[in-house]
Amino acid sequence: MKASQERVGQGGAGIPAHVAIIMDGNGRWARARGMPRQAGHRAGVKAAREVVEACGRRGVKILTLFTFSSENWKRPKEEVVGLMQLFVEALGKQVRELHKEGIKVRFIGQRSTLNDKLRKQLEQAEELTRNNTRMLLNIALSYGGRWDIVNAAKLAIADAQAGRLVADDLDEESFSRYLSLSGQPDPDLFIRTGGETRISNFLLWNLAYTEMVFQDCLWPDFSDANLDAAIDSFAGRERRFGEVLDAAGAE
Ligand code: IPE
Ligand code: IPE
Ligand code: MG
Repeated sequence: MKASQERVGQGGAGIPAHVAIIMDGNGRWARARGMPRQAGHRAGVKAAREVVEACGRRGVKILTLFTFSSENWKRPKEEVVGLMQLFVEALGKQVRELHKEGIKVRFIGQRSTLNDKLRKQLEQAEELTRNNTRMLLNIALSYGGRWDIVNAAKLAIADAQAGRLVADDLDEESFSRYLSLSGQPDPDLFIRTGGETRISNFLLWNLAYTEMVFQDCLWPDFSDANLDAAIDSFAGRERRFGEVLDAAGAE
């Protein structure tokens, strides 16, 4: 049996519990086909739907997808409007399906920047799927890592002013509870498609010790084989978290 078959539905050894993905390259995928960027985003939504399935089958417990960054608002208005419409459409079509599959959906990002319709959809999706336990899907929408940290600081200050927090008690563990992914383990594996080797203001706090995989593949072309390649690379790495694991061998 091939290693990739063994994993199906099992999770466990070698399978990252939390995978975070920057789904990049939609625009270039469309351009290479002489199509408008929106067509690339549409193909990107399909690839996103498929990666949720693929991660579920492999036993990944948490999947965090970067769909729109704080900085993506700076794109031409037409593209931003097209993307927001696509999110509304995709959620409308897919939330019930995700629910049936036992997936809990959560959104992270600056909700006040989203239009009312989309915001309402996010709330409904979260409410519908809140008791699901098979997999947790975090969708980062209007999200920025720096925004997340500043927002956490504001929440901590508010708690301090209300007498619920003493500054001396603030440490990495307690501070992290104010972040968007509060209570969730940090990503084990980070994947970015599209060939750029940067974080682009994704989960700045949470990626501190995440294993990074960068792939040239453009997001709409992302397949099970790409996911397996990333997981294989992850499985072969020694995570040290700053420690010396084999003190004798290090001499
Ligand atoms: C990622 O694809 C999707 C979003 C940022 C919304 P891009 O739109 O960034 O595609 P490229 O990088 O221009 O090819
Ligand atoms: C990161 O991609 C954001 C998403 C994929 C949602 P960008 O295309 O916005 O990143 P840069 O501009 O290349 O850094
Ligand atoms: Mg891009």
